[in-house]
Amino acid sequence: MELVMPDFRMIFEDHGSGLPLLLIHGFPLNRQIWRSQIEGLSESAHVIAPDLRGHGETPPTEGISSMDLLADDCLVVLDALGIDRPVVVCGLSMGGYVTLAFHRRHHDRAAGLILVSTRAGADSAEAKANRDRLASQVKDEGTQAAVSAMLPKMLSPKTYGSNPDLVKQVEEIMNRTSPEGIVAALMGMKERPDSTPFLDQISVPTLIIHGADDQIIPTGEAEIMHAAIKNSRLEIIPDAGHLPNMEQPMLFNHVVLDFLADL
Ligand code: MLT
Repeated sequence: MELVMPDFRMIFEDHGSGLPLLLIHGFPLNRQIWRSQIEGLSESAHVIAPDLRGHGETPPTEGISSMDLLADDCLVVLDALGIDRPVVVCGLSMGGYVTLAFHRRHHDRAAGLILVSTRAGADSAEAKANRDRLASQVKDEGTQAAVSAMLPKMLSPKTYGSNPDLVKQVEEIMNRTSPEGIVAALMGMKERPDSTPFLDQISVPTLIIHGADDQIIPTGEAEIMHAAIKNSRLEIIPDAGHLPNMEQPMLFNHVVLDFLADL
C-alpha cells in the first residue's frame, strides 16, 4: 500500500486483522525482511510493515532520518489506517531504536514491544566515527560500499554455508536501499540518544529476541535490556545471527505468537 505524506510517499504492507503488530525493519534493509512474519503471523494479527524513508520502495527525503522522525512516520501510517488502539511494536536493530523512540514519544499507543537484535545504548565515539566513514564511502561509491561492509556480518557464520539463497536475498534487499537513505539513516543512528535510562519506565510486556551468533550487536546487549525492563522476557535464537526472523523464521514466529497470545 502507499501513503502520500506531505513530502514523500511511504510504502507499507497491511495484512490480516486483530491485534495490530507493527514490524519495523533494520538498516540498510526494508519490509521484505518480514516476508515469513507476514505469512506466518497475519492469520493471528493485523500486520503492518512499512519501508522507512530511503529504504526499499519509500524514497529518501532531505536531511537526517532521526529515530524520532522514523517513529513518527510509523505513527502516521497507523493513523492513516485508522488504528487508534495500542499496537505491538516490533523493531529489528535500527528498527529497535525506532521502537524505543516510538515508546518514548507515544507510549499510550504501545500495547507491547518486541526488541529484536538491538540495543538501548547510544553509539560509542568509535561507532560514531565508523558511521561517518561509511557515510562518506557511500557518498563516493554508492550503496555497494554499505553492502560490502555489512553483508559478511549480517547472518550467523553457519548461515553463510547452509543457506546461500538467504545470503543472496539479504544482499538484494540491501542493494535496494538508496545511497541518500543510507547516509540519512547512518546520521540518524549516530545522533540517537541513550535509551538505557528509559528502560525502567517501560511497563508494557516486552519480548527481547536475539540471535545467539549475532556478529553486529552482541547478545549481552539483549541481556542488559532484559535486566532493566521489568515486564520482559528474553529469547535467544540458536543458529541465527543479526536476522533471526529470516534465519530461523519458524522458531521466531513461534516465540512471537506465544508472546502475542499472552497479551
Ligand atoms: C541494523 O541492522 O539496523 C544496524 O546494523 C544497526 C546499527 O548499525 O546500529
